Amino acid sequence: QDVEGKVAFITGGSSGIGRGIGLAFARAGMTVVISGRRQEHIDETRAEFADAGLEVDSVLLDVTDRDAVERAAEETERRHGRVDVLVNNAGIGLTGPVMEATPADWDWLIDVNIKGVGNGIAAFVPRIRAHGQGGHIVNTASMAALMPIVAGLYSMTKAAVVALSEALAIELAADGIGVSAYCPGPVHSNIAGAVANRPAQYGESGYTPPPAEFLERAKTQPYMSYVEAGERVLNGVRRNDLFILTHPEFRAGVQERFDTTLAAFPDEPIDEARAAAIPFLTG
Ligand code: NAI
Repeated sequence: QDVEGKVAFITGGSSGIGRGIGLAFARAGMTVVISGRRQEHIDETRAEFADAGLEVDSVLLDVTDRDAVERAAEETERRHGRVDVLVNNAGIGLTGPVMEATPADWDWLIDVNIKGVGNGIAAFVPRIRAHGQGGHIVNTASMAALMPIVAGLYSMTKAAVVALSEALAIELAADGIGVSAYCPGPVHSNIAGAVANRPAQYGESGYTPPPAEFLERAKTQPYMSYVEAGERVLNGVRRNDLFILTHPEFRAGVQERFDTTLAAFPDEPIDEARAAAIPFLTG
């Protein structure tokens, strides 16, 4: 679809992948509004846009605050007249063994990675629907959603984002609103360090934040740049892809996971009467 002149709101657009998505969108002629939790990251992002000769609007926002997300949607419409594209990208990368997570770890992950996405959808989709000219929703999940990797509850939250995206794609098709589940592999960002920024309300974690050497070493790894990760999203939106994938390195793992799923079906004929009675069988 044509993206020029469209208004996009990107949560977690002040850092890493979200910043890359914002840069790609702005270069494509879109009006970009980014939200982030930390003012210094927003300022840094605004400077990067300015250096590239691009414009960006910004708002401080915690995606777990439903009323604040609603106000941000209202303010975006007030300032830019409309909103066409929503990118639910804000997320936290709290990973580790499931059995070591505290109840507060469960809460933080679910609040940001799942309910934060829900808050974005609740606030923005009715506005996109209302203007009747279609639009697009991108939900940032992860490769951790599509194959088992050692990420524990993080994978659970990202699998939820994929399932939600698939459901919404069916639901919003009639309104001309496309939906993409974005599932990148490793991308350079602040994700590993951000867990040290845990809001006080979430209390004790069962995980130790990664040491400084780990964060330093990560910077030198040949991960994908956030700029490239953002360009992949722009291409996916233009093509209205349901899945936006970035790293063919994971293909074999995903294949194995789906092969295992298919192999688990009982090897017996379909019961036609039972099949006809299944109301949500869309395939
Ligand atoms: P990042 O830490 O650099 O950026 C995360 C952004 O989310 C920041 O702008 C931060 O302010 C925002 N955020 C976090 N909690 C928030 C809250 N409660 N309210 C509002 N904003 C909040 O990390 P990165 O890597 O750019 O992450 C973006 C998304 O990409 C996340 O959903 C992450 O799970 C996902 N992802 C990242 C991968 C990577 O390798 N970097 C791989 C796969 C998925």
